[in-house]
Amino acid sequence: MSVDEYRLAFGEDWQLSQFWYSTAFATRLARYVRSLCTTSSTVAFMCCPTAFVAFQHTNPLEGARLLEYDQRFAVLAPKKFIPYDLDEPDDFPEVLRGSVDVVVVDPPFLNETTNKKIIKTVLQILHPTRGKLLLLSSPSIEKILHRLYDKEPIGPLHRTSLTVEHGELANDFACWGSWEGAQDIGKCDELELGAST
Ligand SMILES: C[S@@+](CC[C@H](N)C(=O)[O-])C[C@H]1O[C@@H](n2cnc3c(N)ncnc32)[C@H](O)[C@@H]1O
Repeated sequence: MSVDEYRLAFGEDWQLSQFWYSTAFATRLARYVRSLCTTSSTVAFMCCPTAFVAFQHTNPLEGARLLEYDQRFAVLAPKKFIPYDLDEPDDFPEVLRGSVDVVVVDPPFLNETTNKKIIKTVLQILHPTRGKLLLLSSPSIEKILHRLYDKEPIGPLHRTSLTVEHGELANDFACWGSWEGAQDIGKCDELELGAST
């Protein structure tokens, strides 16, 4: 399914804080994520179904997983969908423990409590040494984010140069990476993307 088809098929439920990325941004993000992977990588898209759809549409990986609360998205890829509720941060398949190479997460709520619960899961599933985290959130809570995501493998955070775009949401958003060099992501878009494909 393409991102355009997905955006038509799945309306945003604002009670669940669902604001979909624009097709252009989701595609750009997917290509950057893919550039961090090998063919055997495991990638967990947490709370960001549009990013998962764009990733699987442009350059699918067997090891891609979608961890999401909204069960509507199970139909996208039944074997890759993992029900995830941030209020049950320890509830995830054992096979993910310490094995995920890249986590992409867009926490639904812009507060410390939500991020603490998300972190509890991420720290359990991310590979302890080679794991990378891409975090999408609002710069309005940047100080909180830097304080919480403060050490490997989830930090310290480096703000990328990616401009995060949503279809219906005009709020300022940004993207941070947990590894040295993440700050270069998005600096020279077309050049880097050309090199990674
Ligand atoms: C801010 S949206 C991010 C979506 C992203 N912009 C995209 O286009 O893919 C947050 C996501 O968190 C999910 N969510 C809402 N409540 C949740 C919960 N309790 N646990 C886990 N995820 C939740 C929503 O369904 C939504 O997909």
